Amino acid sequence: MRIYQEADYEAMSLRAARIMAAEVVRKPDCVLGLATGSTPVGAYRQLSQWNQEGHLSFREVRTVNLDEYKGLEPTHDQSYRYFMQVNFFDHLDILRENTHVPNGMAADADAECKRYDELIRSLGYADLQLLGIGHNGHIGFNEPGSAFVAPTHVVDLTERTIEANSRFFASADDVPRQAMTMGIGCIMAARRILMVVSGEDKAQAIYDAFCGPIDPKCPASILQLHPDVVLVGDKAALHKLVEAGVSVCG
Ligand code: F6R
Repeated sequence: MRIYQEADYEAMSLRAARIMAAEVVRKPDCVLGLATGSTPVGAYRQLSQWNQEGHLSFREVRTVNLDEYKGLEPTHDQSYRYFMQVNFFDHLDILRENTHVPNGMAADADAECKRYDELIRSLGYADLQLLGIGHNGHIGFNEPGSAFVAPTHVVDLTERTIEANSRFFASADDVPRQAMTMGIGCIMAARRILMVVSGEDKAQAIYDAFCGPIDPKCPASILQLHPDVVLVGDKAALHKLVEAGVSVCG
């Protein structure tokens, strides 16, 4: 595992964007696993800029997103499909048919989860999977529980996640109670994991994920078993790791 400690959000985003760009340069038709949320937005902005300046092409890139709210139309301004369009895909030369997000409106959610798993498998799994981390250690919407769940599945969001995500909705009551998420199986099958994290409020989750026991109570702790994890964070998010004596670059 490699850990890059950057001064602040901007530097963290630049580092993450460079790692993602390197993957696209190395393999122009790579499969990128993507995340929504606040943390990756800076990296998406930087990658979009390089694309528009002609330094990087996404023409052959395929993408698979981690998750989607159940019951939101792709055009709903809080759906993750909409988020990806506005924050990333609309600014790239990527082909829409090469971008994949679970269909939150599928009549049969379990069948949709199965379809999504099969799709990811048929693409050969992600070459690089981008992840954020929740305050409770979730990755995707794999919430703390009694077991690591391998396949793409429907989840009940925890109160903590609903509260954290309510900042994007008019009120907590408007946050969907369920989502579809890529399971731990597809995440762990990615060849490389890139986790991005920013802010003091994530420091404990990061400490638990990488210094605590491997336990589904902290879903991200399973990443300790992945052979190629790159963690990029700002000082505030990484300080507990550093204080525990974990060596970092930067
Ligand atoms: C988003 C996702 C979530 C977020 C996590 C952190 O697709 O899968 O696991 O990565 O909730 O969100 P932010 O970056 O908003 O703190």
